[in-house]
Amino acid sequence: MSRNLNGPFRTKSVEQSILDTEEPEHALKKSLSSWDLTVFGVGVIIGTGIFVLTGKVAKETAGPSTALAFVAAGIVCALAALCYAEFASTVPVAGSAYTFSYASIGELPAWIIGWDLVLEFALGTAVVAVGWSGYVRSLMDNAGLHLPASLQGPDVPGGHFDLLAFVLVLVLTVILVVGVKLSARITAVVVAIKVTVVLIVIIAGLFFITKSNYTPFIPPAEPQTGGSGLDAPLVQLLFGYEPTNFGVMGIFTAASVVFFAFIGFDVVATAAEETKLPQRDMPRGILGSLIICTVLYVAVSIVVTGMQNYKELSVSAPLADAFKSAGHPVFGGIISFGAAVGLTTVCMILLLGQTRVFFAMSRDGLLPRFFSRTHPKFRTPYRPTILLGVVIAIVAGFTSINELATLVNIGTLFAFVVVALGVMVLRRTRPDLHRSFRTPWVPFVPIVSIAASVWLMLNLPAETWLRFGIWMVLGFVVYFLYGKQHSRLGRGEGMTPNPAREGR
Ligand code: ALA
Repeated sequence: MSRNLNGPFRTKSVEQSILDTEEPEHALKKSLSSWDLTVFGVGVIIGTGIFVLTGKVAKETAGPSTALAFVAAGIVCALAALCYAEFASTVPVAGSAYTFSYASIGELPAWIIGWDLVLEFALGTAVVAVGWSGYVRSLMDNAGLHLPASLQGPDVPGGHFDLLAFVLVLVLTVILVVGVKLSARITAVVVAIKVTVVLIVIIAGLFFITKSNYTPFIPPAEPQTGGSGLDAPLVQLLFGYEPTNFGVMGIFTAASVVFFAFIGFDVVATAAEETKLPQRDMPRGILGSLIICTVLYVAVSIVVTGMQNYKELSVSAPLADAFKSAGHPVFGGIISFGAAVGLTTVCMILLLGQTRVFFAMSRDGLLPRFFSRTHPKFRTPYRPTILLGVVIAIVAGFTSINELATLVNIGTLFAFVVVALGVMVLRRTRPDLHRSFRTPWVPFVPIVSIAASVWLMLNLPAETWLRFGIWMVLGFVVYFLYGKQHSRLGRGEGMTPNPAREGR
């Protein structure tokens, strides 16, 4: 690997990454504890995935075996989490996988991953905002209040613009500009409501299970109907299978979609720079929130597919509707309320992660430095927060959620691959660094993590791969036209000698 400061594989030293965060004008407040991080994690992980996608996936691709799809997706995430935890505890600066790859593989791969994370977080925020809007409209309908169809969003017949999703993103943007501590407090209350609602689903739901709904647990494979060939999972097209739903392959197709439900633990890593003791708190925050969520997801999906036959599950509010179908609309109302409240934090934390990645890329000069001045009073990166908040609000207002969710998934899985590679590279190039959390069995775990992530990616539709490819090509163009020339590392600005490299 080239150490040449002019090459696209130039790396930023870990020490430099940490030093940069200490320049006063570009520094973030260090105020988060491991408890804040776990709350952050659970706050962003439980969201549209479990509240909305469970029903759709059970009905269309996996039936009761959706619980197995959650297990499969959870395993992929746990493997990636072991790699994320090592990186986050070694390189405790803003920017998540972006920063980690800059310190290990090189600038171009780091740019690629940063660009990819912009896609993940921005579209993820938009997806969740639109899901939130659906739940709020359903609550408003209960109260007899109705928005005009044209303001209900493109997913509704006659709808054009999703007013509620648009307003939500703008309000959250203001909260983030004012400061992370404020948002962490709001998050804690909302997370409590959300987890309570999920527990209500699991415990109350147990009383309404009909055993026969579990037979067959893995429904037999059925050919996919309608749509262009590009709708089919890439793996089925590559290996010349007739694309099918259900069956054993259906479990993996479902896993590649419900994977969205786990997105968020990686966002915890983006707050490393704002953590009091990142070496200790990061691994706790990441792994803790992931374990809690996996257990809840498997329990919820088993209960819900037991309450209602998978063919009858609703696709917009499956958890609430399962209770309504069991004759308990009051439970349904409580669940809808908790979901609407809970999705607010998911949206807010995704937006936070997004602005922090953008901030880190700008601080390194790969995006204009204008964006990395923190606010003199609030100490938040207010410029990228406002810019991205407005763009995401517009995307959320005008875009349909279905295709966006799979695009978010492919982007996130790609980031997992790069992080796992990064762990292996950094172990070789910087064996001297202190790692308070070490990924077990390197290189075995990172290699299995890469294989598992690629497998889920292959189970996503060919169309998603195409869109992802276009976004990444665009990223290359931006890098070669702007970032490569303006990179602070490339210009040798603000760089300090790297003790590990001297004398090489
Ligand atoms: N995991 C988050 C959700 O399901 C993004 O909404």
